[in-house]
Amino acid sequence: MNPFEVVLIPGDGIGPEVTDAASRILEAAGAPLVFQVHHAGLSALEQGQEVLPESTVDAIRHCGVALKGPCTTPVGDGFTSVNVQLRQRLNLFAAVRPVRNLMGVSTRFDDVDLVIVRENTEGLYSGVENQVTPDVVMSMKVATETACERIARWGFRFATRRDRKKITVFHKANIMKLTDGLFLRCARQVHQDEYPNIEFEEVIIDAGCMKLVQDPSQFDVLLLENLYGDVVSDLCAGLVGGLGVVPGANIGEDLAVFEAVHGSAPDIAGQGVANPLAVTMSSVMMLNHIADTRENLACREAGDRIKHAYNLALNEGCLTRDLGGDLDTSQFVAALIDRMEAQGT
Ligand code: NAI
Ligand code: MG
Repeated sequence: MNPFEVVLIPGDGIGPEVTDAASRILEAAGAPLVFQVHHAGLSALEQGQEVLPESTVDAIRHCGVALKGPCTTPVGDGFTSVNVQLRQRLNLFAAVRPVRNLMGVSTRFDDVDLVIVRENTEGLYSGVENQVTPDVVMSMKVATETACERIARWGFRFATRRDRKKITVFHKANIMKLTDGLFLRCARQVHQDEYPNIEFEEVIIDAGCMKLVQDPSQFDVLLLENLYGDVVSDLCAGLVGGLGVVPGANIGEDLAVFEAVHGSAPDIAGQGVANPLAVTMSSVMMLNHIADTRENLACREAGDRIKHAYNLALNEGCLTRDLGGDLDTSQFVAALIDRMEAQGT
């Protein structure tokens, strides 16, 4: 079978370090992929391109699949987030982020196994902000029935396919009666009409956050609008060891962009110490996605090899600094590749 063409966006900060690590691991696993490198973010600007070059967007449309490093967004002023733009431009309406304990990574809990499903295209991330008067500014929260219904349906279908038992909507419909009210109503409706066999639960988000940090095992699939999904993703990452271990995917009708939950981590960029596991796990999600959508068995096998290797390595104490170990990025990559070679890849 011909190798599958995938777009690789190195990104900013630790992005190039962790995506390079992931591509070395993919190669060692024998993943039948060829990467087309395209830029986005500050690194695109540095190359004299737009912050989100049309050629990058077109390449993702052409290949259908991308692996992306994090892109820096200036705080308080400057350009609109490339990450948000990309999700909106390509209509990658569902962000899915599995959050699980990993063997060898000790945390306060040992029974976390939940999946975050985040609406990825609207809410307060629509970027509709106005200066009303010199001292009053306004931000518009947008909710459409189409997008609310679409993400609810996607979440229930995902839960069904993955044999998940329960969906919990986190909302604030007591305060935002129209926007969160619509999000909640759509979820209720899809549950009632299409997926009555999946347990459905509604929790007001502030209390939900408390429940999450007290006993995350009570949750299965979490369904959230854009901003809540963003915030709760990092909270959940903290339950299982931090941002270094939580992967993610942005999924649309025909396109998918895989990226870790974490950002460009400017505080450790350039030091070669970032944990490449989150983006590596994202690349395993990508391999499984290609396997599922293109019936590519070799991708599934490569993904299984990588997963087996990182589970072994973690269990044997190969940990990067964020997890309390002392390995740097390249030592961690070497530890995974050693284990794949020992398996006879
Ligand atoms: P961040 O996720 O980059 O970092 C938060 C903390 O976690 C930092 O202390 C960092 O060192 C640590 N960390 C993150 N990933 C790590 C890894 N792989 N290994 C070890 N430690 C890791 O969040 P922050 O600092 O709030 O944002 C930095 C920049 O990233 C901002 O410009 C933000 O807009 C951007 N960002 C981009 C995202 C994306 O491209 N999808 C997602 C989140 C933030
Ligand atoms: Mg985030």
